[in-house]
Amino acid sequence: MNADAWKTFPNAPLPGTRICATADAPTTGVKSFDIDGFPLILVASAEGLRAYVNACPHQFLPLDWRSSAILSGDGDLLRCSNHDAGFDACTGAGIDGFAQGCALDPVPISVHEDALLIGGPSEN
Ligand code: FES
Repeated sequence: MNADAWKTFPNAPLPGTRICATADAPTTGVKSFDIDGFPLILVASAEGLRAYVNACPHQFLPLDWRSSAILSGDGDLLRCSNHDAGFDACTGAGIDGFAQGCALDPVPISVHEDALLIGGPSEN
C-alpha cells in the first residue's frame, strides 16, 4: 500500500489543513467532508479515529453516497453503501465483495489544540 496515495487525488489538501473541530469528529459511525473538492471520510473504527479518501475503489463513488450507516456496530467493518464492498475499518484493506484486491487510501490526521488536521503529527 502506498501511504501517500491520497496526495495524488485532485485537490489533495496540504498538511495542516483543518478538517473540523475535534468536538465535531465522530465518536460512532462515520462523517464525510468536502475539503475544497477533496472527499474525506472520518471513521470511528474499533481502534480509534481513521481518515480515508471518500472514494470507493470499485467505482470511485463516495462510500456513504446512499447511506451514512456504513460502519458495523463493533467498528470493525466499513461497507460501501453503493454495492456493498467490505473494508477493514481500521486499516482500509478490502476484505469482501468488490473490495477484494484493493483498499481505501488512508489519510494521516493529527490533533492540534482543538482542531483535527490533515497530516501526521510530524507534519503539523
Ligand atoms: S462504489 Fe463502492 S462497492 Fe461499488
